[in-house]
Parts: sequence; C-alpha cells; structure tokens
Amino acid sequence: MKYGHFDDTAREYVITQPDTPLPWINYLGCEAYFGLISNTAGGYSFYKDARLRRLTRYRYNNAPYDMGGRYIYLRDNADGNFWSPSWMPVRSDLDEYTCRHGMGYTIIRSVYDQIEAETCYFVPMEESLEIWELTLTNQRDTSADISVFSAVEFCLWDANDDATNFQRNFSTGQMELVDEVIYHKTEYRERRDHFAYFACSEKLDGFETQREAFLGPYRGWDDPAAVEAGESSNSMAHGWQPIGSHHIKVQLRPKEQKKIIFLLGYHENPKNDKFDPADSQTINKKTVKPIIAKYLQPKNVKAAFATLRDYWSGLLGKLQVVTPDEHTNRMVNIWNAYQCMITFNMSRSASYYESGIGRGMGYRDSNQDLLGFVHMIPERARERILDLAATQLKNGGAFHQYQPLTKRGNNDVGSGFNDDPAWLVLAVAAYVKEAGDWSILDEAVQYENEAGTETPLYEHLQRSMQYTLDRLGPNHLPLIGRADWNDCLNLNCFSDTPGQSFQTTTNKDGKVAESVFIAGLFILAAKEIVQIAGHRNDRAEAAKQQAAAQLMEATVWKAGWDGAWFRRAFDDFGHVLGSKENEEGKIFIEPQGMCIMAGLGVEDRRAQMALDSVAKFLATPHGIVLQQPAFSKYYLHLGEISSYPPGYKENAGVFCHTNPWIMIAETKIGRGDQAFDYYTRINPSKREEISDLHKCEPYVYAQMIAGWDAPTYGEAKNSWLSGTAALNYVAITQAILGLQPTYDGLEIKPVIPEGWSGFEAVRIFRGVRYEISVKRAGTGNQICLEVDGKSIPGTVIPLPTKDTGTLNIKATIGLEK
Ligand code: GLC
Ligand code: GLC
Repeated sequence: MKYGHFDDTAREYVITQPDTPLPWINYLGCEAYFGLISNTAGGYSFYKDARLRRLTRYRYNNAPYDMGGRYIYLRDNADGNFWSPSWMPVRSDLDEYTCRHGMGYTIIRSVYDQIEAETCYFVPMEESLEIWELTLTNQRDTSADISVFSAVEFCLWDANDDATNFQRNFSTGQMELVDEVIYHKTEYRERRDHFAYFACSEKLDGFETQREAFLGPYRGWDDPAAVEAGESSNSMAHGWQPIGSHHIKVQLRPKEQKKIIFLLGYHENPKNDKFDPADSQTINKKTVKPIIAKYLQPKNVKAAFATLRDYWSGLLGKLQVVTPDEHTNRMVNIWNAYQCMITFNMSRSASYYESGIGRGMGYRDSNQDLLGFVHMIPERARERILDLAATQLKNGGAFHQYQPLTKRGNNDVGSGFNDDPAWLVLAVAAYVKEAGDWSILDEAVQYENEAGTETPLYEHLQRSMQYTLDRLGPNHLPLIGRADWNDCLNLNCFSDTPGQSFQTTTNKDGKVAESVFIAGLFILAAKEIVQIAGHRNDRAEAAKQQAAAQLMEATVWKAGWDGAWFRRAFDDFGHVLGSKENEEGKIFIEPQGMCIMAGLGVEDRRAQMALDSVAKFLATPHGIVLQQPAFSKYYLHLGEISSYPPGYKENAGVFCHTNPWIMIAETKIGRGDQAFDYYTRINPSKREEISDLHKCEPYVYAQMIAGWDAPTYGEAKNSWLSGTAALNYVAITQAILGLQPTYDGLEIKPVIPEGWSGFEAVRIFRGVRYEISVKRAGTGNQICLEVDGKSIPGTVIPLPTKDTGTLNIKATIGLEK
C-alpha cells in the first residue's frame, strides 16, 4: 500500500494521506540553519548544532509520536469550529490534503470546509531563518471570517539541559514583543549573544508567549484554549515555557486569496553591542530588523524560493542519468543525492531517531558520508576533511565524534574504534579524485585541535595507517579495539551490568581480539596511499604502503579465510568468529564486502566463492542481512551485537549500509545482474509499494530493515541518517553505472544488467561536462570508448585541455564474442 507518489518533474514526494505509518519527514536548510519537518508540520529547528543551539522544543518518544512543530490553527469565527491545515495537532477530517516534500522545502496544502490553506516552509540560502508562507483561499461563495493562529514552542537553547533541568529553567525564560515580532531571549541577559525571533507580516489581533496561557490548564496542542475562544490574552512569559503565537483575524471575500508570512529565525549580535539602549536589558535589534523586513515581503520570499530551487538544480545537475529503470533514475537524480547532502550536514546527529543530543558528527560516519557528497560541493568536502583531520589524535587514532559548533573532538560516544583512522584516507582519496586538488595534502593541520602540532595532511594519512600497523594481534591481523565499523561487535567489553553503554563503558585494553574487516579496510586505504604517494613522487612511501598491503593480504589469506568466505574476527580468547566452526554468527557480511572491495580474491575466484556464500546464506528479498545464524542469546564476550533480539539492527538485521559493499564487490567480479538485483531490493522507491510494511519514507534509505529472524521482517527503522545513503550512491553511480572519478580522469566502466540496452548520463567533472552514452552490443562488460568521435584505449578518459566545455563520450559494452 502507498501513501503518496513521486513527482519526479517537480523533484517532490507527494504524500496524500496524513496518517502515514510513521512521520515522513524532510529537512529544511542546507548550510547553518536547519529544521526537521514532518508531513504534518511536526519537528524542530536549530542553528548549526542540534544540541547547543536548539530554537524550538521537541519531545521525543511522545504519544502521539510526532507532536510539536510549526503549527498553524484556523478558526472559523462564524461557528467557532477550528482545525489544523497540516492535520496535526487537531486532526480534523480534512477534505483535501497533500504534503509535498521537495529539495529543502515542504509544502502542505489542505482544504477544510472550503477554506484552502497552503503553507510553504523553507530556509532561504545564506540566511539563519525559516519562512512559512501561508496562502489562504476562500473557496466559498460567501465571505469568511477566519482567525489564524501560529504556534511554536521555544527550547531554552541547550536541548539536553532543556529536557532535564527544570528547577532552573522554569525561571529563566524571557521574551520581548516589538512591532508584531516575538523575541525569545532566554539567557541573553547573561552569556548568550544570540536570540530567536518569530515575526509575522500582518498586524496582530493578539499574541501569546506563555504556553499555559495559550493552551489553557490541562490542555494540549490539539485543543488550545486561545484557539477555541478565538481570543489571545497577550501573555508575556516570565519563566515557565516560552512560546510564540500570533493571532490574525482575516476577512476573506468569496474566492479571495491572502498571503501571510511568518519568519522564525536565529540572530547573533556583537558581544559588546547586545543591548539598545546600551545600559538597558532590551535586545539591540538594529541588525536583525532589515532581515526581518526583507523576508516579510512576498516578492523577496518568491525570489528566495527560486534561488533555492536553482541551487538544487545546480547540485543535482552534477550527475543526471537516464537508465531503463525508473527507480534508479529517481534515486540517482534526486533523492539519493539529496539524502547525501543531509547525511553530510547531520552525520548521525538529528533525525526522528537521533535526538540531536547524544551524538555530534561521527568521525567514521562523516568520512563515509563525504563519499556520496563530494561531487556536489567539493569545497565543502575539503573543509570537512580539514575539520576532521584537525581532531585526529597524535598517535593517528581518532575521537569517535566532534561537536559541530566547536568542531572539537570528544569521547562522549566512546573512543578506541580501531577502524576510525583509515576512513580519513578514503575520504581524502575521494576528494582528490573528484577535485584534482593535490594541494590539500600539503595543508598544515593540527592534531587534537592543538596549536603548534600542525603537520601536512599527508602525514595525517600516514599516521592513520601506522595506527593500524602499531596494533596487530596474535595472528598479525589488526586489533579491533572497542569495535570496528560494527560499533556493536564489542569483543573487549564484557559488560554485565544493566545500563552500561557498550560504547563508553570501560573496555579491556585487549591485545587478542582482531578484525578481518579492518584488515580489508587497511588494504583498501593502503592502495589509495600508494597511488597518492606515486603522484607526489614519494617512491619510498609508495613502496612502504605497497609492501604493507601485500603483507596484510597474505595475513588475511592465512588467518582470515574460512574456505568459502572471509572470517569476521578473533575474540578475546583467540577464537574465530564468522566461521563454519561457529554455531551462531558463522558468516558476516562486512568482511566479504570490504575484502573484495580491496581486491582480495578477485583474480582467483575466491571473491566469487565468498559472494556466492553471501547469496546463499545472507541474501533475502528485503536485502542482505548482517550475519547468520543470528545470536539467539546474549554473549558476554560479543557485546552489543548479541543484545538485540534476532533480526534487528546488527544482530542479523538488513543493516542497509553494508549492502552496497556487496553490490560493489559483485561488480568487481563482473556480475552486473547480481549487483543490480541487490541494489533494487533495498531501493526505497522500489519499496514504495510496500509502504505499509516498510513504514519509513519511500524516498530515502533507512539504516535498517528487519531481517528474516525478526517477527516484523521487512519493516524499516531509523530513516535518513545512515551511511547507506553515501554508499548506495557510490555503488550505483561508480560501480554499477561505472562513472568513476580517478586521480587521472573520469573512468567509464559500467557493470550493468545484461538486460539493459545501455544508459545515458551527464556528469560535470572538474568543470567539464561529460555527455555519456553507453550502448550494449552483446554480453559481458568489455568496453570500448570514443571521445568526441575518436576511440581511446582503456577506460579512463584523459583529462581534457583547459577551456574544454563539453566532451562527448560513446561507450560500447559487451564486445565479447
Ligand atoms: C551506525 C553508526 C556507524 C556504524 C554502524 C554499525 O550506523 O553510525 O558508525 O558503523 O552503526 O554499527
Ligand atoms: C548503537 C547502535 C549502532 C550505533 C551505536 C552508536 O549501538 O546499535 O548502530 O552505531 O549505537 O553509538
């Protein structure tokens, strides 16, 4: 069953029923000011950091699930009837309803009793504010007397403190109201130099800033007393819960239309110019007023919206494809790329499953997210790489996360994940390939954000590699540390006390537990450094990394190969995991993906054996599960992975992020049909038709789909913020469609299904437009390339001369007899 449909021309998903199985959300803003918005206008906003600069309050784990947001109430003053044009929170039976989630905006339209209301929510580029543009239309043949109420609940900035420290916070709230603008200035009197404002384009008939005055005692957002009465009491909040609500009375003639603009924004003042007059406690509004005045003008709102649309056309225009499969086209051209921007911005910090309080920007996560984003705005990827590298530990290791506001690393979500360092190498490699910017390697970058510790980024990469080599175990495989990519494989943790966090509780400084996955990752990263060093004429380094990779590969074949697949790890007792010898957890997906991506077994059919084992033991119609057999009970020596009931999360769920590794691996051995089949199984657009089972948004990937051991097999969870976005983007665009940036130019090497006649693509690469046409001539992946009518040897298109605008590429594949 479906709850809407794709509108690919508009690049929107159109939800036609408000009671979706879960809130189906979108993100507003793509630079510094962000909002999450659901299909019923739920959600919240923040500036840069969802924990430390939270503008509006949101209660997670609420009932109903999605409550609190950017609400508008309409009241028919003739009969006192009121409703929410976004359905929530009043939940009246709307006569018409659509929610269009687009690229950085959401438009919710409804009709109730012949009053049409359409609200467009978006964040203008380069501004720290969001616009709600409400268009009201009276479809009746008679006049309508309507009251409009807006409503947001302010958060007292630090979202964690806001949800816990009531004895203080109930006394700190402060507001101002000047010229129809509600200002929220809690803590502005002391150390904050920022405030929030909520403005309206109309003359007010009333307002509220105290929540209980608006709602009335013992009432909720579905039934506010002020809306019911059609009167606001002009309350000023002194402590308790500050809100913003404007009340506007509108007379609409038959068929008349009216626009009302609301602005919710964040503003900073210079520390020494906070008040006006200077000796008062009144916010200095000199610099914010022009911004507010600008966006209360409909023509400026219109222009800002057009700019946002153009911005996205530009970003998505970096790669557009036409393949025989509409789900591929839609994901590549629109939604997967869009999700990559969101994961790049948020890492795992703020979604409907991540509170924005617990996690900042993950080190491993951000390096991976960048892989799907780098082609859109290489400059921002560059900045991110330098930020990440500046948090790197001197010994080459990493803080597992950093706070977006301060850009400083911390151990809040644990440390000592021994795979972390290597991901930086992959991110830098992807950036250099995309941008051709070798200068980044010479940037002087600090360690642990400490002045005076700078070395060139190139050395950061070397230390990343050395970190692994300094930590080898009894089999000479890399020690796993707290965990590798699988945060939940905690082989040194031995946690037996309820409530301990597997990620942060004291770990044994284990010298035995090893990871085959990190070995694969190390080889993959080492191969990149070999190429990078080669380009820098650093032969010694190239030779060193080459040798290290070879040695590691030999070690994997010796200790990490199980006969028909790659093993997963050795535990603290030196026992193997992910082997036919195990009763549970015989085979894991991660080392199959990573080792084959690193090239292991590709030449000698062992990769094929491993992938056949994946197909046999792990692949389900809903995607490939993480391991089998699932852990039927909690194993002290395995940690969190066995804490989940079978079929969920890392315990044999379809952990979607790992699936594209297998797709890429399949293309390495030339099996396009198999790769594409896996791609299709978890493609959200393809799963749209089973939305009632899948439950999450059909336009973005979720972290997990319940595996076949789970009672709710096929049900997705944790949508939006997952490495799945970036890796699937890489798998489909670079491995299957085969459009791969390399250090020396764009490579065209598709491994597509046999049944495809070909595909077309436009790729902007290093400022040149590549117009690519791939035609199938027969079976197999053998390829022949023509550039502007001339055939060239190999698969990499040499970098064109300066000033080349467009290159015409004809690729013929399947030339085997
Ligand atoms: C989560 C984490 C990611 C980790 C994965 C597997 O998605 O954000 O860092 O690799 O889980 O445990
Ligand atoms: C939990 C999750 C895992 C995530 C980790 C991050 O263990 O299961 O997916 O990576 O938390 O802290």
